[in-house]
Parts: sequence; structure tokens; C-alpha cells
Amino acid sequence: MTGPDVRAAVGSLGIRNPLLLASGILGESSGSLIRVYKSGAGGVVTKSIGIDPRAGYKNPTVFEFDSGMLNAMGLPNPGIGHFGEVVARTKAAGVLTIASVFGANEEQFSSLAARMQEYGADAVELNLSCPHVEGYGAEIGSTPEMVSSIVRSVRSSVRIPVWAKMTPNVADVAALAKSAEDAGADAIVAINTVKGMAISARLRMPVLSNSVGGLSGKAVKYVGLRSVYEICGRCTIPVVGVGGIYSGEDVAEYIMAGASAVQVGTAVSEGGPGVFSRIADELSRFMENEGFSSIGEMIGIARR
Ligand code: SIN
Repeated sequence: MTGPDVRAAVGSLGIRNPLLLASGILGESSGSLIRVYKSGAGGVVTKSIGIDPRAGYKNPTVFEFDSGMLNAMGLPNPGIGHFGEVVARTKAAGVLTIASVFGANEEQFSSLAARMQEYGADAVELNLSCPHVEGYGAEIGSTPEMVSSIVRSVRSSVRIPVWAKMTPNVADVAALAKSAEDAGADAIVAINTVKGMAISARLRMPVLSNSVGGLSGKAVKYVGLRSVYEICGRCTIPVVGVGGIYSGEDVAEYIMAGASAVQVGTAVSEGGPGVFSRIADELSRFMENEGFSSIGEMIGIARR
């Protein structure tokens, strides 16, 4: 007897299972991206890449605790000029590759997306949501007007699918997502990290060098689910859920909220790439036990 069909799709992009590597974890070299794919991910999202090389913030950049982690890396990356090889090698190994980019304005986003397309990326993910870097991410991705003009500009610059990654740190994430959809986005990714901070009482100072960072892991799953649920109520394009996914049942919850696929980040940083095959097995078992024969049957069924 064959098991349930766990193949997924985000618009025109077919995926062997709904589990993608989230941006920012193991996403800087082709070696690690390929390893993640071989460990069972359906595809990978690269680290966010900008126009120029950036060193990022000084340490400490990560604070781990029981139910997740806070990070403020400061968008460190080698710059687009050095990243072609990473995308090309990853693609040559047969890996579904989504390239994450961040820019300061429409021109930078469009030029980065076009370069990623040239390198062979299957889709581009716009980081409109990093919560703690001046002039980038959520600073320019928190108003529908800015989201709209960036997405519109990128959409007219590339043929590959354009995914817009949303910040949850706004009053109405669905309105932001709708502005991306209206501007031509092919999918919404929700959510990036939740803005937070940690204080050391002993040292009497913030833990992270940047003071403020982004919260991820188990602590944010319910913010992610709520965001996906709200976005799916307003948008018709596919949604990729992110936030606190550690088990097959977590994946099912996101899909039932309306997501077509999910991204896993903090669970990989805690448990290594092997989490993908475990989560995929758990999802398959869950579907079998609950009588689902395909991912499509589960999408949005928790919606009222
Ligand atoms: C970082 O580089 O600090 C995190 C990137 C992000 O949150 O999008």
C-alpha cells in the first residue's frame, strides 16, 4: 500500500514535499544548501543577499532559550556579486532554490532579483521584513505603499515567481499581504521574526549587541498561524507559513490554516538538517492516520 501523497505546490512551483528551509539558516553555501536538500527538505531558501558585502553586527548576535531564539545578525552576506556560484552549484545538484534578497529601494530589489534569475534561481523571496536593520526589511516593508511599489518593480523585472516575505510586527499583516498580491506577487511568505529583546539582569544590559532582535522558534508558532489565517482570508495567491515548526503536526496546522507549504528555520538551527526527514515522516503518518491522501485535501480546512 502506498502512503499519502506529500507533494506540494506554491503556484506553478511543484515541490516534492511542503517543507522548505527558511532563509537565514545554513543558507550561505551550496554545500550546506545541498546537504539540507539531501536531508529531506522539499527545497531551500538562501540567506538574504544584498547589493554589497555586509559584515553584520558584532557578537553576541544570537540568544537561545527554551522555546526559541532571538537573533540580530544584521544581514551579513557576501553581496550579490559573490553569490552566483552558490545558486548555480545548488541548482546543478537538482535542488529547488528560492533566492532571498534584501534592498533599500525598488531599484536594488529589482536588480538583485534579476541577477538571481540569471544565476538560475527558481523563485525570488523579497525580504521586506527583517525587524532590526536600519533602512532595510521591515523599515521599508511595513506600509502597503512601499510593499506595493517594490513588488511591482520586481515583478516587471523578472519572469520567475516573486514571493513577498511579510513582517508580523504591524497592526494588519493581511493588508500588507494584499498590497503585495495586488502588485503582482506570486506568493506570500509569513512570517519573519517577531521583534523582541533580552536583558541580562546580571550584566544590567541587553544581551544582543544590537539590543533588539527577531524572535523565532516555538514561541512564535501561534503568531505565524494567526498571520497565515488572516492573510488567507484576504488573498488568493498561495501562502507559505513560517514560524515555530518542529513537527509534522505543526506543518498540518499551518496547512489547515491555509498555507500551501511551510519553511523551517529555528528547528534546523537547533536540531540540524536531519529534522526535515523526521518532520516529513511525521507529516506522512499524521495524514495516513487522519485519512488525508494529499496535501491539497488539507489546505485551509480549519478555516471558518
Ligand atoms: C539578520 O540578518 O539579522 C536576520 C535577517 C532577517 O530577519 O530577515
